[in-house]
Amino acid sequence: MNSINTINKDNLPKHIAIIMDGNGRWAKKRGQQRVFGHKNGVQSVRNIVEAAGQIGIKHLTLYAFSTENWKRPKTEVSALMTLFITAVKNETKNLMKNNVKLNAIGSLENLPKSVQENLNKIIEKTKNNTGLNLILALSYSSKQEITNAVKNISSDIQKGKISINDITEELISNNLQTKGIPNPELLIRTSGENRISNFLLWQISYSELYFSEVLWPDFSKEHFFEAILEYQKRERRFGKTGEQLKEDKS
Ligand code: FPP
Repeated sequence: MNSINTINKDNLPKHIAIIMDGNGRWAKKRGQQRVFGHKNGVQSVRNIVEAAGQIGIKHLTLYAFSTENWKRPKTEVSALMTLFITAVKNETKNLMKNNVKLNAIGSLENLPKSVQENLNKIIEKTKNNTGLNLILALSYSSKQEITNAVKNISSDIQKGKISINDITEELISNNLQTKGIPNPELLIRTSGENRISNFLLWQISYSELYFSEVLWPDFSKEHFFEAILEYQKRERRFGKTGEQLKEDKS
């Protein structure tokens, strides 16, 4: 098993998005608290960031915390917030070494000040890195993101800056937090759950979906490469027929 060598480097997704799921179950299976699963999930984050950089993926978006996750028990939420701070602090050196640029999307203003400050520090520090663009979705809700885009556009219309006829798909994309980033060609979700859970709803309209049974703390580089290989086997038709695609290529 050495999938990395069989990956076609000319047909890589530019952007991969991942719903990291299964930390709680992973911990439970070991008779441990859920937080133990999250802690072990950090190692998978490290592995996958490294793997993505290794093969030349340009953008990697990780769903680390949804707006719905605020409903979890207070102790778990606060342990996760602490974990984000320590992970971000501990990884700074590594991110710099690997030329990774860190970004974040979501209602970041709702995160504790200490998380915001640490996040901003590292975003600032890594802003000139030219390798992998690592985007953390924190306190993120796709419906909220789209709602905010509608508000911004409506406000521009109200102010007379644009007219209704100026509303295009491109304008909407440009009012999302992922502005300037290509849509993910591949979306991976771990842990056997086959849901999207309010993640990048607009951006994944044509993404290939890959559901893995593996729980996030067990998700290895090899699993990640297998997902990319599976993506490369798929025929992306964008509404066209298979025959038309062959003609386009010839
Ligand atoms: C989903 O598993 C996981 C989360 C809500 C948190 C993800 C966080 C990490 C992987 C830790 C660190 C991340 C970064 C970016 C440093 P779950 O708790 O829903 O698992 P379950 O479905 O088995 O209960």
